[in-house]
Amino acid sequence: MLDITSGLPWAATGQTLCQAPRRGHAPSIRSATETDLDAITAIYAEQLQAGLGSWEATVPDRAVMAERFAAVRGAGLPWLVATDQADNILGFTHARPFRALSAYRGTVEDCIHVARTARGRGVGSCLLEALIQLCAARGYRQMIAVIGDARNTTSIALHERSGFKICGVLPGAGEKSGEPVDVVLMQRTLPHTMGGRA
Ligand SMILES: CC(C)(COP(=O)(O)OP(=O)(O)OC[C@H]1O[C@@H](n2cnc3c(N)ncnc32)[C@H](O)[C@@H]1OP(=O)(O)O)[C@@H](O)C(=O)NCCC(=O)NCCS
Repeated sequence: MLDITSGLPWAATGQTLCQAPRRGHAPSIRSATETDLDAITAIYAEQLQAGLGSWEATVPDRAVMAERFAAVRGAGLPWLVATDQADNILGFTHARPFRALSAYRGTVEDCIHVARTARGRGVGSCLLEALIQLCAARGYRQMIAVIGDARNTTSIALHERSGFKICGVLPGAGEKSGEPVDVVLMQRTLPHTMGGRA
């Protein structure tokens, strides 16, 4: 499969975007492959069972995650993983169309999850920066984060750190465990590059 990270300066040199990790080694960022799906499914399931990062009531299995992976890659969008020196998966991120209507074709939504044991040391920031660069290089103009729970202050801080600004709060628009929860919308204009959408 074509590695869509190729062509970017940092990818060509094998460098990561994380030049100054807060603790330990900087993670490597690369395109995800189907062989990563077990680890990706496990990381996603981990935070669904005890976290604020998703709306899903049931934990998707590997087959469902494989369908999502194929849809993202089929749309020409990036799905990235962060790995340690032994190529263990520390986290993942991907973009997806914000909405299907053609008027939104320049806008993507991000999704990002880091393994519990790898949080708080810059992995999420590295992943998000790489996703921003790749989407910009493919000609997308805007990235939206839909923070599915206003209490997810870590995700809000992560996105603020990467240049997102809160552009709206939808009071009670979501529901978790039978209780209404607020949804935070964040947005970032992507840097203009010479790239264009395939
Ligand atoms: C949100 C998430 C992806 C962040 O990943 P991470 O690797 O821990 O993030 P980083 O270490 O790069 O930290 C980024 C910023 O988040 C904030 N942050 C990180 N850990 C934090 C914590 N425990 N408490 C408060 N803020 C925190 C900091 O502002 C940090 O930037 P700084 O260290 O320069 O101040 C991760 O916590 C996660 O996977 N959470 C569960 C899933 C989820 O909520 N996904 C987002 C759905 S919208």
